[in-house]
Amino acid sequence: PPLPTTITVTGAGGQIGYALLFRIASGAMLGPDRPVRLRLLEIPQGLKAAEGTALELQDCAFPLLQDVEITDDPRVAFDGANVAMLVGARPRSAGMERADLLAANAGIFGPQGAALGDVAADDVRIVVVGNPANTNALIAAAAAPGIPSDRFGALTRLDHDRAVAQLAAKLAVAPSAIRDLTIWGNHSATQFPDVAHATVDGRPALDALADALGGAAQAAAWLDDEFVPRVAQRGAEIIAVRGSSSAASAANAAIAHMRDSILGTPAGSTSAAVVSHGEYGVPEGLVSSFPVTSDGSGYRIVEGLELDARGRGRLDASVAELVAERDAVRALGAL
Ligand code: NAI
Repeated sequence: PPLPTTITVTGAGGQIGYALLFRIASGAMLGPDRPVRLRLLEIPQGLKAAEGTALELQDCAFPLLQDVEITDDPRVAFDGANVAMLVGARPRSAGMERADLLAANAGIFGPQGAALGDVAADDVRIVVVGNPANTNALIAAAAAPGIPSDRFGALTRLDHDRAVAQLAAKLAVAPSAIRDLTIWGNHSATQFPDVAHATVDGRPALDALADALGGAAQAAAWLDDEFVPRVAQRGAEIIAVRGSSSAASAANAAIAHMRDSILGTPAGSTSAAVVSHGEYGVPEGLVSSFPVTSDGSGYRIVEGLELDARGRGRLDASVAELVAERDAVRALGAL
């Protein structure tokens, strides 16, 4: 039988953790043949919730689940980890300034990155879900110089899947008909969901939209006035309707991010925030969302796509926000 994959989930006692762990244990992430060992990291206040989740995991009698360990020590949690899903983060509390939020999270993701560098398996792959996800990933990667930086990513797959779903609904097609849509930039309201290179059943999405909406101008207006803001503000919409933030959809996206990195992306590109080497003019070292593919060895940025002036402007605005976050974190001495 194949060796078990060790998967560490931080913030395991939280709501995303509760939606994530059962699906990982069922084989939804790595397939029906790979046994898994789960390591749950929590802060002391979260340990009881994580323990309760572990009891329920046991009660599922999952055939693939070999072991569950719970700890509040990152060095125990990440020991031998092949996959690390960094979900736990410090949320913004009332009256908290952005700099305070960045500082609080630097205090989490710096030490967790260092622990990963010290004790994780050589093949570890890391996805940061906890916000501000891109900058938290930047901090963790900087604290782990021994881990190749392309092993770190931040989650924009939820934004990607939201965009696919909105476009599919508008065109009355199945989400699976849509390929090669891209989320660019930061996982924040400045993100740029881009359909310029997307296809619908093999034909350009822009043509399909123009046909469906009565012309190219109508398609452009729908994209600017409805699609982009709806996707970028979907997190707020979910909070307003559900009364708490996206959890099951975020967990689903985190699973899809890691599954596609490890098992590959045969059906075209997806979106993930990864370390820039200067692609598309994004400053080297920033963790930005790009179109990516994987052959199973991890995400690679798809190069050579054209951005028109509008798209360029939107990407530049989101990258400016990432630069400001990086500079704020640098000023704190966390980079
Ligand atoms: P939650 O508050 O329900 O759970 C977070 C858990 O993390 C808590 O149990 C807390 O005790 C734990 N935690 C806090 N600091 C920790 C640390 N240093 N080490 C280990 N555990 C720690 O929050 P929820 O809903 O599960 O969301 C988690 C994060 O995911 C938030 O930052 C949220 O903003 C982010 N998120 C990101 C999305 C994305 O697309 N990138 C989508 C949805 C949420």
